[in-house]
Amino acid sequence: MAHRHVPAKKVQVGIIGAGPAGLLLAHLLHLAGISSVVIEAKSRKYVEERIRAGVLEQGTVDVLRETGIGARMDREGLLHHGTILKFAGEARRIDFQDLTGQAVMVYGQHEVVKDLIAARLESGGEIVFDVSDTRIDGIEGREPTVSYLKDGARHTLACDFVAGCDGFHGVSRAAIPADVLRVYERVYPFGWLGILAKSPPASEELIYANHERGFALLSMRSPEISRLYLQCPPDEEIANWPDERIWEELQVRLAGGEGWRLEEGPVIQKGVTAMRSFVAEPMRHGRLFLAGDAAHIVPPTGAKGMNLAVGDVRVLARGLEAFYRDGGEDGLAAYSDTCLRRIWKVQRFSWWMTQMLHTFDDASPFDRRRQLAELDYLTTSRAAATTLAENYVGLPMDWGPQ
Ligand code: FAD
Ligand code: DHB
Repeated sequence: MAHRHVPAKKVQVGIIGAGPAGLLLAHLLHLAGISSVVIEAKSRKYVEERIRAGVLEQGTVDVLRETGIGARMDREGLLHHGTILKFAGEARRIDFQDLTGQAVMVYGQHEVVKDLIAARLESGGEIVFDVSDTRIDGIEGREPTVSYLKDGARHTLACDFVAGCDGFHGVSRAAIPADVLRVYERVYPFGWLGILAKSPPASEELIYANHERGFALLSMRSPEISRLYLQCPPDEEIANWPDERIWEELQVRLAGGEGWRLEEGPVIQKGVTAMRSFVAEPMRHGRLFLAGDAAHIVPPTGAKGMNLAVGDVRVLARGLEAFYRDGGEDGLAAYSDTCLRRIWKVQRFSWWMTQMLHTFDDASPFDRRRQLAELDYLTTSRAAATTLAENYVGLPMDWGPQ
């Protein structure tokens, strides 16, 4: 079908995707006086209601505060100074505050997205929702373009740079030639069934439970709303899990401690997420930069996905700021390597938490005992507990060359 073509619009940075990566990048660039347009395949309502991650590292909290969008987070978010590990019928606490002097903030990803969208629109910035057929051209030249369909017409952004912040299933990664891109991947033989429930969280802190029937996690979004997860087969049909079965299984896997019981309540939302570790290198080709899930995925154990996206765009924004200030390209040249140094450490942590806490069908009795010994060690040795704590609150975000 032939579409009407709208004359190209000039913009310094074209940003594909209005998730945490794209929206925060647009915000940081705005503060530095750099123009951008964000395009998004879904509607505003959809991205604002998409329930995903819930734990912000200290560094993520700092970025949001320092850039003027932390006010609602500070009012409504829940500061957590530790977490609970449950295994072999016992509950043991890891004290982040004592071990690292830092904490994490429990505040939903969709709330961060809402705050970023509100700030962007308030400052007169542009987000084009409901686009389709996004195309990226000319990334090896000096004026790459991003084009998309909206309201029956093809629109084009003529950019200096393109930021591919379009998540794992986006189009940006595929714009890098296959012979340039190296991909590392591990797919796990299980998924997470996640629910959002209208019930007060049964613990003030998150509970990560290793149970012989499978992993379970108790988290929350507010003093009235719980967020709970169960390990399940990767391709599980949600229809197999009526609410009663979910609660029954959660009660069993999260049990432990005298008289302790989860408070049950109406399930507001539920879904199954498959789990993988994935890294695509390099994260830059020509004038295209990949950030967030477009370049890498972690399994959710340890809550790192959104925090990694924040780390990437901080490095990218610094590089672009330096470029527009004095033409220096060192920051942009170092972008991929700077990000990947941190990403691989976080990949290691997410994999390690995942293998320690889940049950594997092919695990031997030896593997099982080793897992329990590791949890025992982790919760009795200060050195071991510190390695969990410092990764959980977040490794330092290296912003790269100034
Ligand atoms: P995204 O948030 O995926 O944003 C990408 C955006 O790009 C989307 O809005 C998408 O609609 C848009 N887009 C895609 N293609 C195009 C296109 N062609 N044109 C224009 N726009 C496009 N992490 C945790 O730590 N804990 C969790 O519990 C957790 N649960 C998750 C559940 C699910 C179902 C998924 C998918 C992820 C989950 N994550 C979780 C990971 C975390 O949410 C991500 O790491 C985080 O969203 C990454 O942000 P991002 O901006 O890079 O990508
Ligand atoms: C949540 C998700 C995670 O992956 C995690 O490790 C902790 C909390 C959450 O959605 O609240």
